[in-house]
Amino acid sequence: MTEDVSEALEQSLSWRHERVELVHDADSGLQAAIAIHSTMLGPALGGLRVRRYPGGLPEALDDALRLSRAMTLKASAAGLDLGGGKAVVLADDAWRDPARRAARLRAFAREVERLGGAYVTAEDIGTSTADMDLLAEHTHHVVGTTRSAGLGDPSPSTARTVLGAMAVALDVLDGDDALAGRAVGVIGLGKVGGRLAELLVQAGAHVVGADPDAAACRRAGALGVEIERSAAALLARPLDVLAPCAIGGMIDAATAATVGCRVVCGSANNALTGEGAAARLARRGVLYVPDFLANCGGLIQADCERRREADAAQLEQALAAARARTRAVLLEARERRCLPSAVAEEHAWSRIRAAARRRREGPRAAAAAA
Ligand SMILES: NC(=O)c1ccc[n+]([C@@H]2O[C@H](COP(=O)([O-])OP(=O)(O)OC[C@H]3O[C@@H](n4cnc5c(N)ncnc54)[C@H](O)[C@@H]3O)[C@@H](O)[C@H]2O)c1
Repeated sequence: MTEDVSEALEQSLSWRHERVELVHDADSGLQAAIAIHSTMLGPALGGLRVRRYPGGLPEALDDALRLSRAMTLKASAAGLDLGGGKAVVLADDAWRDPARRAARLRAFAREVERLGGAYVTAEDIGTSTADMDLLAEHTHHVVGTTRSAGLGDPSPSTARTVLGAMAVALDVLDGDDALAGRAVGVIGLGKVGGRLAELLVQAGAHVVGADPDAAACRRAGALGVEIERSAAALLARPLDVLAPCAIGGMIDAATAATVGCRVVCGSANNALTGEGAAARLARRGVLYVPDFLANCGGLIQADCERRREADAAQLEQALAAARARTRAVLLEARERRCLPSAVAEEHAWSRIRAAARRRREGPRAAAAAA
């Protein structure tokens, strides 16, 4: 994590973020950061995260920079004409007050509108579909609403692609994609993790979950999920699959050396942190499905909504295609004896480079033809 804001901004230069906005609205008390990593393939789409950052603005900004870059990769890897962006809000006690929360969300929406469509916002940790409906009253650039052509909460679609990616990973390891009888741990039983746990139970898996939120545990317990006392206990437990579905960064190199699972595949963006976590997992024979491949379902749904031309059948088709892409990446990585994340990133960056080339050469080609 970066220690101060200037360090974070230097990082944004080296990651080539196109634009970083720090927002302070004195009237409402809103403190936020909006990071636009890339608009090379299209508008930068990424959720609005509202959470407490003990490290204050430097930590929040660091989160926005990492997450927006990950969104660039996710959109490109999913074959979407979208770029990567993310917004984070520093939550405090005032966020619990409905009127003050609404005032801050309105101030945030005005900032998004001011960016003119370069950034499109959506739901993430700490925000809901109702929040997206409120934002939509003040900006055109929001998806995941329940209004007009809105498709609502993207989390069920995210859970679907995570489930598909898990099945593919098990198939690549064992030659069997069945989830029935598998032991699967889900860290974070919120919007995605809760739905994922439900789908896994329906598929006949033995599901163990952990979440500090007692209500989330109760809901999952009622579906047949065994509740473990902590995420740390779940990380160490012998499992077929571990699905990190809370905040990112739960698996560093030290944790990677001790996890008890055979596959890591979840929805949390940037699930691994620090140097060497992915390599250490690989050395131990643990297959890590890159988070941005597994969790693309919500983004695919958001894209369908944004284009206003896709119906339910097309969404289904696009979610199925995500599973096929994940299979192709895992097989290519096995053949080339390299990390799936390296293969997936290579594909994603090459699509962006090709778009950059077209953009550069477009005017030249037009001039040559004239
Ligand atoms: N919602 C989507 O469609 C979507 C899409 C792509 C990626 N993601 C990512 O998936 C993750 C989950 O998103 P969500 O929408 O379900 O968020 P959410 O806020 O609904 O759920 C997160 C859950 O994690 C729990 N949690 C927090 N700290 C924890 C800990 N230390 N151990 C165990 N549980 C903990 C919270 O109590 C909460 O229940 C996030 O990283 C998000 O960025 C979500």
